[in-house]
Amino acid sequence: MIELQDVYQVYNEGGTHALNGISLKIDDGEFVFVVGPSGSGKSTIIKLLSAELRPTQGRVHVNGFEIENIPHKDIPYLRRTIGVVYQDFRLIDNKTVYENVAFVMRAVGAPQRIIKKRVPYVLELVGLKNKSRRFPHQLSGGEQQRVAIARALVNNPDVIIADEPTGNLDPARSVELMTLLEKINGLGTTVLVVTHERELVNQLEKRVVAIERGVVISDRTGGYYLDEEK
Ligand SMILES: Nc1ncnc2c1ncn2[C@@H]1O[C@H](COP(=O)(O)OP(=O)(O)OP(=O)(O)O)[C@@H](O)[C@H]1O
Ligand SMILES: [Mg+2]
Repeated sequence: MIELQDVYQVYNEGGTHALNGISLKIDDGEFVFVVGPSGSGKSTIIKLLSAELRPTQGRVHVNGFEIENIPHKDIPYLRRTIGVVYQDFRLIDNKTVYENVAFVMRAVGAPQRIIKKRVPYVLELVGLKNKSRRFPHQLSGGEQQRVAIARALVNNPDVIIADEPTGNLDPARSVELMTLLEKINGLGTTVLVVTHERELVNQLEKRVVAIERGVVISDRTGGYYLDEEK
């Protein structure tokens, strides 16, 4: 479960008030879109959930971990429970697709025997099985994005968090990717997607949390992009 309670985030650099008393609860197994204008605080929320940041004020609870006072040594355990697809992918340039994915399993100490089974399985799931020996620069933007998703999935996290995962995709690929995330959600994983894809959000009719100036301005189910009615 994910819960933010009255969370404030002030960045020291520039003194930006990115979050201004935001509260939000996401139960296990939910599929949630987070929408909102550029600079409204969406990526900041994700950085809090993965403990890249600590809240300036307020409580952030993720899968039983209290981010506001998580000990440094517990952060890797927290991160095993979440898979994050970053806005900029963060792939490793000099590792192949296979190695980019295997790497995060090695990082949590998975045995080689399990890695050899699991990596091809997730590459198959994202449709990249035949490109496992390529390097990131030999892939299209959409393929790179799917490597990032494979990597987020591979340790079988409780929650998948994707920051604008369709940013570089054409409309058909965007639909495919959302379908993939729905499939993953159907297997029991909580899915949180930050997106600007108005059409997709309206089409999928999931819970939509709209953020503006660091607070939730609307939270409803059924595919509303901001306050727009279908
Ligand atoms: N490291 C940082 N240092 C200082 N200010 C920051 C930092 N990161 C973000 N901000 C500021 O915090 C606010 C929220 O940024 P955030 O990245 O959360 O927005 P966002 O909703 O993800 O926007 P976008 O849709 O453009 O990705 C913005 O005003 C941004 O300039
Ligand atoms: Mg962002």
